[in-house]
Amino acid sequence: MTPSAAPALDRWGFSTWLDHARGSGEFIKLPELDGVNDAVVSIEGRKLVNFSGIGILGWQHDPEVRKVFAATAAEYGLVVGGSRIIQGVSRPHLELEALVAEITGREKALTFATGMLANLGFVNAMSARFSFDNNAGVNNTDTVLVLDRECHWSMWKAAERFKFGRNLIMFDHNDTASLRSELEQLAGRKIVVGFEAVYSADGSMAPVAEILDLCEEFGAVSFVDDANGFMVYGNGGRRFAAEYEALRRATFLMVSFGKGVGLSGGALAGPADALDAFRFLSGTTVFTTNIQPPTAGAIVHVLRTMRRDPSIMANYLDRIDRLRERLLRIGCTINPTPTYVTSILVGPNDIAVNVRQEFIDRGYLVPMFGYPAVPKGRAVIRLLLNNRITDEQLDGFLDTLAELREKYRF
Ligand SMILES: Cc1ncc(COP(=O)(O)O)c(C=O)c1O
Repeated sequence: MTPSAAPALDRWGFSTWLDHARGSGEFIKLPELDGVNDAVVSIEGRKLVNFSGIGILGWQHDPEVRKVFAATAAEYGLVVGGSRIIQGVSRPHLELEALVAEITGREKALTFATGMLANLGFVNAMSARFSFDNNAGVNNTDTVLVLDRECHWSMWKAAERFKFGRNLIMFDHNDTASLRSELEQLAGRKIVVGFEAVYSADGSMAPVAEILDLCEEFGAVSFVDDANGFMVYGNGGRRFAAEYEALRRATFLMVSFGKGVGLSGGALAGPADALDAFRFLSGTTVFTTNIQPPTAGAIVHVLRTMRRDPSIMANYLDRIDRLRERLLRIGCTINPTPTYVTSILVGPNDIAVNVRQEFIDRGYLVPMFGYPAVPKGRAVIRLLLNNRITDEQLDGFLDTLAELREKYRF
C-alpha cells in the first residue's frame, strides 16, 4: 500500500481503493499528450492514431479559425477577467449569444464556460428561491425534475439536492409510456422534463416529438440537452430532420461547443425573461468565469462557416454511414440508431481493459467507456470519429478491431 501523505486521510480509503484498482488494471494510465490533439497524437514520445477526441471536424486546426482566435485575443484579451455578473462579457460573447439564439430559433441565449456549467446553471435557476429586496422574487423550490434515466452525469449532479421520488423523478430511457405514467402522477405540480436529443454513450436519438407532445399535454416545461447534436443535425440536413424540427418546440435547449463545433463552452437558449433571470439565478454565471473571448470569437466564425456550407457536416455524416456499414460487416454489435455517435459493444470490464491496452500496443488510442458512463459489464468503444483521420488510418483501426474481436469474442 502506498503510504498516505496525511494519516488523517486514510479514513477516506483512496489508497486502499487505488491499490486494488491498479492491481486489476482498471486504474488506467491517463494519456498525457506531448502536443496538440489531432488525428495522430503523441503520448510520451509515442505516436498513436487518435480515436478518442470529441472535436469531430477538427476545427481547431483550420487556419482561418486560428487566425480569428489570434485576432480576437489581440482585441479582447485572453480572459474577461471576472464573472459575467461582476466583470461582464466581451463583444464576442454577445455575438455568439445572438447567433445561438438565431440558430436554435429561441428569443435569447446565454453562454457558459462549459456545457456542464450550463446544465448545472439551468437546474439551479429553475429551482431557486431568490429576491433582491424581500418584496418580489421567485420561489421555485417546488420544481419537480423529471429526467430520462440516461441523462448526462451533469444533470444528475445538478439534481443531487432534489429528493428522489418526491421532486426528482426518473423515466425509462427514451420511453414515452414510462414518461406518461410518471407525468400522470404529477398533476398540478411545476414540472420540468429533461432529456437529451442524441445520447452520448449509447448513440440513441430521443423520440423528441413524442416527448414534447407529452410535455405540452401535461403542462410541463421541456429542457433538451443537445450537447451532442448541436450543428451536427438540423441546419437543413436530411438526417433526423423531423426530430430537429420538433426540437424547436422545446422550451429550453442546452448546447455544447465541444463536439460539432469542436472548441469549448456551452449555452442555454430559450425565452428571454427566463434567460435574463438565469443570469442571476443560475449561479454558474455568478460564481465562475465564462468562455475565453478568443474561443467565443472562434466559435462564432465556425458557426457561420457551418451554416453557410451544410455540406461540410453532410459529407462527414456520409463517412459515418460507411463506417457503420463496415463495423456491421466485421460482425460488431453497434447502436441501432445511425447517429454520428458510434457505440461498439465490448462487454465485461476486464475484456475492455485488455482490448484498450492491445489497441494502444498496436498504435491506436480508443475511447473505452466503462461504468459509470455505461451500465456495469456493458463497456463500449464510443467513437466520435475525427474527420481528420485518413482512410488508411481507419482501415488499420478496423483490421485491428476485427482481430481483437476474434481474440476476445465480443
Ligand atoms: C449529453 C451531454 N451533456 C453535457 C455535456 C457537457 O458538455 P461540456 O463538455 O461542454 O461541458 C456533455 C459532454 O460530453 C454531454 O455529452
